[in-house]
Amino acid sequence: MSLAPLSVVIKGTGSYKPENIQTNDDLAKKVDTSDEWIFTRTGIRERRIAADNEHASDMGAKAAEKALADAGMEAADIDIVIVATITPDMPFPSTACLVQTKLGIPNAMCMDIEAACSGFLYIMEVAASLIKTGRYRNALIIGSEKLSSILDWEDRTTCVLFGDGAGAAILSGSDEPEVGVIDFKLGADGANGEVLYMPGGGSANPATPASIDNRLHFLKMRGREVFKLAVKVMQQAAEEILEQNGLKSDQLACVIPHQANLRIIELLSSRLDIPMDRFYLNLENYGNTSAASIPIAMDEAFRVGRIKSGDLVLLVAFGAGLTWGAALVKCP
Ligand code: UT7
Repeated sequence: MSLAPLSVVIKGTGSYKPENIQTNDDLAKKVDTSDEWIFTRTGIRERRIAADNEHASDMGAKAAEKALADAGMEAADIDIVIVATITPDMPFPSTACLVQTKLGIPNAMCMDIEAACSGFLYIMEVAASLIKTGRYRNALIIGSEKLSSILDWEDRTTCVLFGDGAGAAILSGSDEPEVGVIDFKLGADGANGEVLYMPGGGSANPATPASIDNRLHFLKMRGREVFKLAVKVMQQAAEEILEQNGLKSDQLACVIPHQANLRIIELLSSRLDIPMDRFYLNLENYGNTSAASIPIAMDEAFRVGRIKSGDLVLLVAFGAGLTWGAALVKCP
């Protein structure tokens, strides 16, 4: 029997953003929109679009290579691979198995978990819990999305919001107590599923000429409803996780929110009474990358020195499902 670690820490992070930049002005040439509308309503100026031959597993593997290098680890050190994605390369095998092969990880438990934009927080909780059993040492967790493959490029209410990319982290057991991944507060409300969903492509609506004619294989969203729910559930998750850990919001050095809309984050900031300068933001450059949004932002925040040793960091997200989550991380 293996010894359970005292804590689970983030050993390394990495991210990958496709080279191709699509600006709001580029979009205005495709649909009836403008840089002014998109920027004032969302805070987004541009997003990355993956190449035709670049899929969730390719971007995930590239982010993972950087996370491994950052952690000073090799592929053989990894014994869990979990990918959070709503745009897997294909329904099966899992994107995690494809990443495993691309990285040459000799033997690992590999699976995908789908919780949309909250996905990275969900896989962080699952991986940390597995490591705490003492049966696994190092988990590679990845959020990777090629949302451009499920967007309706004729629907201006959705196609302007999203982008492609991947972020990864290595979680490892540690003997240092009270550091690393401290706590989670995850939840879902399936009754609100139809505010944001993709009806086609699963067993309910497999691909047929009719399903394609009816545009069922594209993301559908009721934006205003999602907006209100997002603010509510993220506020709730953040307040609950702070309360259950006896913390006040002014003890947080940094908040990394799901990067969906600047107005959602501004409302969250005022409701939680946490100044905007404590939120790490990059949505201006990448738009909403769903499950990749938090790990890309976290990787950048580490790299630019926004998160330092000893800092208490709040990660908070919402997504289709409706799912939500908050995580508290203390950097060793
Ligand atoms: O990870 C979860 C992802 N989802 C989200 O984060 C979505 C949350 N919701 C939102 O971010 C906002 O609701 C949107 C940005 C999607 C929309 O902003 P809004 O302020 O709620 O606008 P609206 O939907 O009420 O639309 C206002 C107007 C409408 O025109 P009328 O009916 O007032 O004439 C829309 O047709 O803006 C129009 N509109 C656009 N105009 C130019 C909608 N999309 C566009 C567009 N360009 N891209």
